[in-house]
Amino acid sequence: MQSNRRTFIKSLSAASALIATESVAKPFGVPAYIPNLMKVSPNDKIRFATIGMGIQGNFDTQAALRNPDVELVGVADLYTGRLEHAKTAYGKDKDLFTTRDHREILARSDVDAVLVVTPDHWHDHITIAALKAGKHVYCEKPMVQHLNEGKAVIDAWKKSGKTMQVGSQRISSAAFQEAKRLVEAGEIGQINYIESNNDRFSAIGAWDYSIPPDASTQTVDWDRFLGDAPKRPFDEKRFFRWRNYKDYGTGVAGDLFIHLITGVHFVTNTMGPTRIYSSGNLAYWKDGRDVPDIMACIMDYPKTEQHEAFQMVLRVNFANAGKINDVTRIIGNEGQIEFSENNLIMTKKKLPIAPGYGGYDSFFTFTEPVQQEFVKGYDAKYPPETRTSEPVKEVKFTAPKDDDAHAKHFADFFDNVRKGSQGTLEDPVFGFRAAAPVLACNESFFEQKVVHWDPITMTQKNPTAPTSTRKKTIASTKSTTKKT
Ligand SMILES: NC(=O)c1ccc[n+]([C@@H]2O[C@H](COP(=O)([O-])OP(=O)(O)OC[C@H]3O[C@@H](n4cnc5c(N)ncnc54)[C@H](O)[C@@H]3O)[C@@H](O)[C@H]2O)c1
Repeated sequence: MQSNRRTFIKSLSAASALIATESVAKPFGVPAYIPNLMKVSPNDKIRFATIGMGIQGNFDTQAALRNPDVELVGVADLYTGRLEHAKTAYGKDKDLFTTRDHREILARSDVDAVLVVTPDHWHDHITIAALKAGKHVYCEKPMVQHLNEGKAVIDAWKKSGKTMQVGSQRISSAAFQEAKRLVEAGEIGQINYIESNNDRFSAIGAWDYSIPPDASTQTVDWDRFLGDAPKRPFDEKRFFRWRNYKDYGTGVAGDLFIHLITGVHFVTNTMGPTRIYSSGNLAYWKDGRDVPDIMACIMDYPKTEQHEAFQMVLRVNFANAGKINDVTRIIGNEGQIEFSENNLIMTKKKLPIAPGYGGYDSFFTFTEPVQQEFVKGYDAKYPPETRTSEPVKEVKFTAPKDDDAHAKHFADFFDNVRKGSQGTLEDPVFGFRAAAPVLACNESFFEQKVVHWDPITMTQKNPTAPTSTRKKTIASTKSTTKKT
């Protein structure tokens, strides 16, 4: 029964890919719903494997498993301890397949979908290989590590006809969905400015995660970890605290701005900014890291059919010993939406037509006769009904207690797998349109330049030549498979 389904899925995947790439393209090249060609029977379990079973790999796996009719069948990781831990955590009642080599997962016919939860420099390689191997993919944010890697993932996805979801799960929360509804209903008028910050002040908050005492070249597959990054001797800090190094991670921009911008793109239906500038500094966590611990950026979003022009300012400060007040504010000309945790507060405020006079104004500097003349003219122009504004209104939205954005993000992925659809909430086109501007922040910071971006064609207008100094060929990576 299972193998029949699998043969069926396999034989249809080429046809589906054709449909995805050629006949049912939505505007901007997003393939539309592919009618049930790759449908997984509602009675079948979706069997998935997690590639990268570190901190988020565990959280993702658990969130995925909070959905019905899905099963974890395999795990790939490069640290033996995590494979052993996975067997205890998820494999008590079965023989969970574990390996250090993700290609062994991709070769298995009992794996329908993979979760790519590795450090950022592996995202594109594993995602592309998985799609080519006919797997559906849930890839963690940011979808890619560098600006020039996005299109290859999008192409592979389109060709494969498979379902893909990028993992910035907060947009599946009730609060973000409510914000989207309010903005689309015009409740805060035209958006003109968005600000968002995510500050921290702790070693773990600043990514200095615990290193296991048995870390060594025996327990860690260091060569495979390096992948397309520069070769260097084993360094446990680089392996377990990879975010602190630009060879493997994407700094605070790719790690944290990405959540902020994903939310904003979801709520405003924007395609993205055209001008991106960032500045930053390594102010406090001078522990050998080569990425800033403070960064701010400004992005210019041009007027489009979806919205008026607006400006967005994002900030992360890992050295904020002051009062931390993380907030996202979407400001329009008739109010604002402010997020707090899983809730939101909308404040509606409209100016009266009459501008008023007096107070800190030039009126008192006029002579008495001129003041009288001014008042006469003002009264004629502005009748009483134009002088008052509606009272400020505050609307609070509290998400239901059991709102589980993470599980819901997986539910959207699995539902689309079952339907044979590529229409996930955060498909790779959406994922790259969100990732590209934050990756541009890194380029802006390290190269001290303004990045000019075309959000429609998803192309950088002023790339630094040569486009890629680190050619991405991983095929030569030696197989060091170990089953634990
Ligand atoms: N969506 C979110 O809210 C969220 C939160 C945290 C992290 N993340 C993302 O999840 C990813 C992982 O972050 P983390 O905090 O779990 O890191 P981590 O260091 O805790 O885990 C990464 C794991 O990947 C493994 N790994 C590395 N290269 C591999 C390869 N080639 N094949 C198989 N396994 C490999 C490592 O052994 C490690 O166990 C990152 O992309 C990060 O941005 C997302």
